[in-house]
Amino acid sequence: MPAVALAGDVSMPMVGFGTWQLRGRAAYRAVLLALEAGYRHIDTATMYGNEDEVGRAVRDSGLDRQDVFITTKVPPSAAGRERETLAASLGTLGTDYVDLWLIHWPPAGRAAPPMWQEFLEARSRGQARAIGVSNYRTGQVDELIQATGQPPAVNQIPWSPSQHDPRRLSESRDRGVVVEGYSPLKGTRLDDPVLAEIAERHGVTPAQVVLRWHLDHGITVIPKSGHPDRIRQNLDVFGFALAPDEVARIDAMSAD
Ligand SMILES: NC(=O)c1ccc[n+]([C@@H]2O[C@H](COP(=O)([O-])OP(=O)(O)OC[C@H]3O[C@@H](n4cnc5c(N)ncnc54)[C@H](OP(=O)(O)O)[C@@H]3O)[C@@H](O)[C@H]2O)c1
Repeated sequence: MPAVALAGDVSMPMVGFGTWQLRGRAAYRAVLLALEAGYRHIDTATMYGNEDEVGRAVRDSGLDRQDVFITTKVPPSAAGRERETLAASLGTLGTDYVDLWLIHWPPAGRAAPPMWQEFLEARSRGQARAIGVSNYRTGQVDELIQATGQPPAVNQIPWSPSQHDPRRLSESRDRGVVVEGYSPLKGTRLDDPVLAEIAERHGVTPAQVVLRWHLDHGITVIPKSGHPDRIRQNLDVFGFALAPDEVARIDAMSAD
C-alpha cells in the first residue's frame, strides 16, 4: 500500500475507506470487512454519526491501533467548541488520538484562523497526529498559513476525472498541502466509453481505473462502498498500471 508522508513523520495510506452514509450495523460490518480486506485508513467525521461503529470495528479487527490510520472531522458548527468536540470524537471512537483531524468545511464559509489555532493545540497535546482542512479554497489555506505559519497537512476536496484541476494540485503542493480526493466514483460517469475501453484493456472495472488514475496523480483517495465485493475491488488497484496516454485521456474527460 503506497503512503504519503505528512508533516511530523506521519504516514497516510493512499487508499482509504470512506464511511459517509454508512450507519449502525452496516457501518460496523463494512469497516470490519474493509480492514479484513487490507484497508488501513478509515475516513469518518463527527457529522457521519458512525464514529462508534468505526471505533468498534477497528478494535474488533484485532489490528494494533497504530496500524490503522483514522481520520475524523470537526463540523463547522463546532467553532468555539473544538476541544470538547475532539474529546467527544475520541471518546466515541475509543482511542486516545486520531491520525488526522480535519475542519470539515470552512465555518460560515470563512478560513477561521482561531479554529486552526485550536487544531494546532490539539496536535501539540498529541490528540491529533496530523491536522488539516476539507473543502478549503487555496486562498483560505493561505489565510491559515498567514495567521499561524502552519499549513494544513491535508486538504480533503472532491476529485474525479471531471473535476481534475492540475492548477489546484500544484497550488496545494507548493504550500506543502496533500490533496485527498473524495467522492471519486460518485463524481464520475462510470459508463463513460473512455473508462470502459481502458478498463476492458486491463481486465478491471471502470471504478478501478478511476481510483488508479487518482493514485497516478499522487492523490489520496477514499472510496466508500457498503458491498463486500466492491469494498475489496476498490482496494485491488495495484495489479495494473495505466499507460501515460491512458492517464492523459482520462485527464481530458475534465474538459467534457
Ligand atoms: N470532506 C467532505 O466534505 C466529504 C464529502 C463527501 C465524501 N467524503 C468522504 O469521501 C468518501 C467517499 O465519497 P462518497 O462516499 O461521497 O462517494 P464515492 O466513494 O465516490 O462513491 C460511493 C458510491 O459509489 C458506489 N460504489 C462504490 N464502489 C463502487 C464500484 N466499485 N463500482 C461501482 N459503484 C461503486 C457506492 O455504492 P455501494 O455502497 O452500493 O457500493 C456509492 O453509491 C465518503 O464516504 C467520505 O468518507 C468527504
